Amino acid sequence: MARSKSAGKKTGNGVVRRLWPTERELFKEHLLRLDATTRHQRFGTAVNDAFLENYATTTFGVGGLVYAYVEDDVVRGAAELRGLDDIVAQTGEAAFSVETDWRRRGIGSDLFGRLITAARNRGVRTLYMACLPGNAPMRRLAAKFEADLVGGYADIEGVIATGGPTPFTILDEALDNATGFATMALSIQKSFWPTTLLARAWGA
Ligand SMILES: CC(C)(COP(=O)(O)OP(=O)(O)OC[C@H]1O[C@@H](n2cnc3c(N)ncnc32)[C@H](O)[C@@H]1OP(=O)(O)O)[C@@H](O)C(=O)NCCC(=O)NCCS
Repeated sequence: MARSKSAGKKTGNGVVRRLWPTERELFKEHLLRLDATTRHQRFGTAVNDAFLENYATTTFGVGGLVYAYVEDDVVRGAAELRGLDDIVAQTGEAAFSVETDWRRRGIGSDLFGRLITAARNRGVRTLYMACLPGNAPMRRLAAKFEADLVGGYADIEGVIATGGPTPFTILDEALDNATGFATMALSIQKSFWPTTLLARAWGA
């Protein structure tokens, strides 16, 4: 079970890392696998496949980034940071989704930690997160990161003061991105070249 914020930390057989725009399809497939209850918890309302396909297309634009838990080249959990284009407000929005069979393994916590570091490094001082009042797992996860939870009947807003960037948070993210990029490059290579050819090329 992963509790560490270190770069490319393994969680089960997979890894939590930054997801790049070229990997949009992996993100979309993750969203489409979410069941009706999870979709409702994640988006605050019922959403259909067409909505999710469009959402995945726009997520990697200016002002947004995604971290994911990737296992066997499949995304099983994701954390999104949005609103980075508003540099004056110094605020951002966070959202999380972990597929049901992958929950309670620390993936949500790992994604949360990664997102806070990314937010700090981009000058985001306050991170907002919306969740439904009955969503106990998300409320408890947010509480672990000392979020102030405010709200009422319809929804609850989590507010997290992230703190400013430090040399350590910048190095942490740089290492994480380097690991994530290398992992992505490797999985692209694997999809183009049979494993035996790769092993021969690497002298294994
Ligand atoms: C909320 C969510 C992201 C948590 O993911 P996760 O990978 O299970 O989280 P973790 O394993 O890191 O658990 C973190 C903490 O959350 C709490 N938690 C998680 N699932 C819980 C559950 N079913 N009941 C009670 N507490 C729970 C616990 O405090 C847990 O810490 P612990 O295991 O040390 O006790 C996941 O349940 C999910 O995707 N829910 C649907 C989407 C959603 O609600 N998104 C939020 C709105 S943006």
